[in-house]
Amino acid sequence: MSPLIDRHGRTKRKLRISLTDRCNFRCTYCMPEHPDWLPKASLLARHEVVRLAGLFVDQGIDQIRLTGGEPLLRHDLLECVQDIAALRERGLRRLSMTTNASRIAPKARELVMAGIDDFNVSLDTVDPETFRRLTLREIAPVFDGIDALVAAGANVKLNAVVIRGDNEKDIVPLLEWAMARKLPLRYIEYMPLDAPGHWKRDAVVSEADMLAAIRERHVVDVQPRGHDPATPYLVDGHYPLGIISTVSNPFCSTCDRLRITATGELFTCLFSPIGTPLGARMRDGVADDVLAEQARRAVWLKDAGYASRPGPVDRPLTMHAMGG
Ligand code: GTP
Ligand code: 5AD
Ligand code: SF4
Repeated sequence: MSPLIDRHGRTKRKLRISLTDRCNFRCTYCMPEHPDWLPKASLLARHEVVRLAGLFVDQGIDQIRLTGGEPLLRHDLLECVQDIAALRERGLRRLSMTTNASRIAPKARELVMAGIDDFNVSLDTVDPETFRRLTLREIAPVFDGIDALVAAGANVKLNAVVIRGDNEKDIVPLLEWAMARKLPLRYIEYMPLDAPGHWKRDAVVSEADMLAAIRERHVVDVQPRGHDPATPYLVDGHYPLGIISTVSNPFCSTCDRLRITATGELFTCLFSPIGTPLGARMRDGVADDVLAEQARRAVWLKDAGYASRPGPVDRPLTMHAMGG
């Protein structure tokens, strides 16, 4: 089948699949402290996730990222990974995971063996007190998780959301921590995707502000941009840093991604007000070719993205349920 393309001419190559909306952390920028979890029965079973994933791989998706909530809370995670990794036979080239790493230590080796090519670990600060304030949890298990991934030979990248008045003072210490361990890091502008009424424009530390803070201590050169959502930089001539600046400089014009929630709703953009309920249709007994056609139509209608509607989205779904 021909590749998935939208009416703005953007071909889709990457799919993010949320395996659960549950998370053992409570990052304040991602969810309310007491979230309403999706009903358990509505979460896709493994065979349903794999069926949907296959449908997209058959339409040209060649990179899948497993997200949550926290994917490690899924009891059949290893089997999900093995089954999705088997889609390499149908054209999948890369299988990735985004995790908070707090529960990954005992499973790191198995996940690498099962076929995860790379892990993005959310780590917004290396200061235990600030970490506790941002996630309402402890940092030690995350350090253990990162160590275990590195020991397992995994490719690891760090993601850090920066919030004014919260962890902006940690920008340079976190960078230096990551540089010492040779772990690539991406800073992320705080996006309006958390609990309604929570996000404030004033709380966004822009890419320009982050660069200014880093340049007080390091030399930073801009690099040519690829398909990564981050603008790439080189720090002190050798260390790769990225900055994802959805708010101050959206990358919507080259967006090659789609996302599926844990209930199988297709969202063509992080900022889409509504999704396409492929999971529910599947449970109604709809055949693959019909589901594929619904997905193609939804992708075709994908809107321009954040660039066209800056500010919070009016919908009940927060980031943990969208899959990041
Ligand atoms: P790579 O495949 O390594 O580039 O990972 P990624 O950046 O796609 O995924 P990750 O889960 O590490 O996400 C990092 C940040 O990028 C998070 O804050 C995501 O919400 C954000 N992000 C991911 N996809 C999109 C997208 O489609 N649009 C926007 N605006 N941000 C996104
Ligand atoms: N703005 C920017 N990034 C966010 N993430 C979660 N909520 C937000 C937000 N409001 C990030 C997490 C994780 C990734 C999947 O999304 O830190 O790294
Ligand atoms: Fe959990 Fe990630 Fe959201 Fe934090 S950002 S609450 S770790 S899903």
